[in-house]
Amino acid sequence: MAQLIDGKLISTQIKDELKEKVAKMKAEGTEVCLAVIQVGNDPASSVYVNNKKKACEYIGINSLAYELPESTTEEELLDLIGELNERADVNGILVQLPVPKHIDEDKIIKAISPKKDVDGFHPQSVGALCIGQPGFVSCTPAGIIQLLKRSGIEIEGKECVVVGRSNIVGKPMSLLLLRENGTVTVAHSRTKDLKEICKRADILVVAIGKPKFITEEYVKEGAVVIDVGIHRNADNKLCGDVDFEAVEPHCSAITPVPGGVGPMTIAMLMNNCVESVEM
Ligand code: GUN
Repeated sequence: MAQLIDGKLISTQIKDELKEKVAKMKAEGTEVCLAVIQVGNDPASSVYVNNKKKACEYIGINSLAYELPESTTEEELLDLIGELNERADVNGILVQLPVPKHIDEDKIIKAISPKKDVDGFHPQSVGALCIGQPGFVSCTPAGIIQLLKRSGIEIEGKECVVVGRSNIVGKPMSLLLLRENGTVTVAHSRTKDLKEICKRADILVVAIGKPKFITEEYVKEGAVVIDVGIHRNADNKLCGDVDFEAVEPHCSAITPVPGGVGPMTIAMLMNNCVESVEM
């Protein structure tokens, strides 16, 4: 049986460590504060934003919630970000994505001060990661590194294959695995011989956004499989990009969906908020 990588447990451990750290900071007179901005009322975004607020509460991080109407203009949003950039009592700023179509997402990401970019989406943060300099790291890939490390899985020297090349997951994931001395291949929807390439992986990270796409034919015997996907199937059950039942018997370790990668994203966001004070 494969080792089940328990993201719920590991994320709780991280949040508890942060809670202790934040309590110590408070005792020394330092508060941590995250500003969360949501434009419009996309139901999925509302769930994510609520979970972020709850995590702040649990850890003792102050949160400022801005729930702006769908009709908010780009200029109004940029003005608010500008104000929050200037505020000494705000350490982190997060604009929940996607923003409505009339707002330029890239412009918004660039407007957030890199010193408060707890999502790690600013080009300066991504550039710093690329050349090994300090900066905020995108939360989901940072969480995956923690899952591997805290499960005793070594990355150094391993064949790592990342399926997916998004700015939020695939690209930063490949850079982080490289930073840990993995040998990294980035595959994507246009990759030829995807099965063969995936089958080379000692560590396979899947973020392609297609339910149960990865079957046992893509997985080497004894591989570690990390599933970033989350989908709801026809009978309303959650599943990932990996066909768990088919793949699990062939792995040495695997993340479940739900309870694998998902909970780690918020834990690492909280970690970035605390780091934003320490930086
Ligand atoms: N929308 C989906 N995931 C994320 C995330 O990690 N950060 C932000 N800001 N928006 C998102």
